[in-house]
Amino acid sequence: MAAAFGPDYAQADPLIKLSANPKFGDYQANAAMGLAKKLGENPRQVAQKILDHLDVDELAEKVDIAGPGFINVHLKTTYLAQQVQALASDERLGVAIEADKAKTVVVDYSGPNVAKEMHVGHLRSTIIGDTLSRVLAFAGHRVIRQNHLGDWGTQFGMLIENLLDAGVDASAQISDLEDFYRNAKQRFDAEEGFADRARKRVVALQGGDEPTLEQWRLLIAESKRHFNQAYETLGVILTDDDVRAESFYNEFLPSVVEDLKQAGLLVESQGAQVVFPDGFKNHEDEPQAMIVQKSDGGYLYATTDLAAARYRIEQLKADRVVYVTDARQAQHFGMVFQTLRDAGWAPPTVELDYVPFGMVLGPNRKPFKTRTGGTVKLIDLIHEAQERAGAVIREKNPDLSDDEQKNIASVVGIGALKYADLSSDRIKDYVFDWDRMLALEGNTAPYLQNAYVRIQSIFRKGEVDVASLDGVDVQVVEPAEKTLALKLLQFAGVVDAVALSLHPHRLCTYLYELASAYHGFYEKCPVLTAADEATRQSRLALSHVTARTLQQGLNLLGIDVVSRM
Ligand code: ARG
Repeated sequence: MAAAFGPDYAQADPLIKLSANPKFGDYQANAAMGLAKKLGENPRQVAQKILDHLDVDELAEKVDIAGPGFINVHLKTTYLAQQVQALASDERLGVAIEADKAKTVVVDYSGPNVAKEMHVGHLRSTIIGDTLSRVLAFAGHRVIRQNHLGDWGTQFGMLIENLLDAGVDASAQISDLEDFYRNAKQRFDAEEGFADRARKRVVALQGGDEPTLEQWRLLIAESKRHFNQAYETLGVILTDDDVRAESFYNEFLPSVVEDLKQAGLLVESQGAQVVFPDGFKNHEDEPQAMIVQKSDGGYLYATTDLAAARYRIEQLKADRVVYVTDARQAQHFGMVFQTLRDAGWAPPTVELDYVPFGMVLGPNRKPFKTRTGGTVKLIDLIHEAQERAGAVIREKNPDLSDDEQKNIASVVGIGALKYADLSSDRIKDYVFDWDRMLALEGNTAPYLQNAYVRIQSIFRKGEVDVASLDGVDVQVVEPAEKTLALKLLQFAGVVDAVALSLHPHRLCTYLYELASAYHGFYEKCPVLTAADEATRQSRLALSHVTARTLQQGLNLLGIDVVSRM
């Protein structure tokens, strides 16, 4: 399967980039090279032609051509100062909402399965999906979150039988979802007669038998309670209103099959109803089938996803549908998307984005497991993160009260956990490493939170009321001030790039660079003890807008800040 789908990463790369080396000006554009290729001309000459028509006197003190045809722009510091000042007075830090570009975006994420503990894969989907939803909403889109809860399938036969046998109330029985599921499975595999009962129970469930449905609802309610607890602790914006579980689409499944038939796409193969999405080949280079209805009449995961996509496009009026799941579902979504196109259910104007992610690996570079080889439970991870962060905080600042310490440890611990996930290119596997994610140096949440704290402590020490910084004249004089100013001005571009490319690590990298730029500024440019009042005010204003950008950026990652740590 080689079908390229999902957002184009390169598309999100601006043609004009911040220079890596100040020697080449502040910005470097490579537009001339691409253009020259198209025109069949010499790139340096094309660059010169662009310069001849460029009117940037207002913002640049110098524009020149370098190397094979790069255009280097040396900005005026007065212009930079003006721009940062505009940023400082903008509540949205330069991220403009363009009403005509706003889309309705459905984001499908988390999607845990009823009566099963959320595993690390669901954790990744939850964290990445939450960030993408926040970024898309902040970029001005109408975001509809959809939690595609797995609440249907033949496994419910054994789960309900197991629940009925226990005879006590559900919550006591399934306080541990993993144990409950394993127990049902063991009985299904080994206990005489149990599998038969389970199968009959599936038929009763599908037939709408009320007492069976009642047990099924109990399982769902109890599982949701677990999931909601996790969402709340993680600070993830998902509620019961966002749940659109698999069973919701049951009533639409017959028409999915019927309409595929009408469209001439349905083929019978060994009793099953299948489609052959255009362009998909199996190992023998023959068209690859996707089953939409089994020979016994049952429907599948793919049928439900076809129904769900139709619902999102037709009922929710989605312009874009984003699916956040582990990379192993690439083939599934590739085929589902193609079928939606083949059937005309997803018109070309609707963008379908598959957002895959890699695995979480343990220190041994194998899939992350507990020491005894079991699945890592989310709740245990959260507790350990809080505990370990507590140790870091106690060492850093022993003067904090117990309550303060606890609160900060929670924000820092959960922040570290999420950031470790978000900061690596999502498509790659990443190694879970407590020490690295909690380090106060490097590309980590604690480093960013600490930069925010540093700025707050300047304000505390100088008894600065940030409201008094409104409208302060910003000056960009020192190289470190310039570096910081340039970084600040990139925020809006980065938000847009993430909304387009759906790569959260780009926002992380940006925030890390911003924090580093502030660090450099802090070393070189005294703030409270600046030489004169105007410089002091300007540097305070720069600090404040940096703090706001860090806070906003972290918020988009679902991470909080603290004012001391
Ligand atoms: N429940 C699925 C799983 O655990 C994830 C659902 C993803 N969303 C979807 N529309 N298929 O793998």
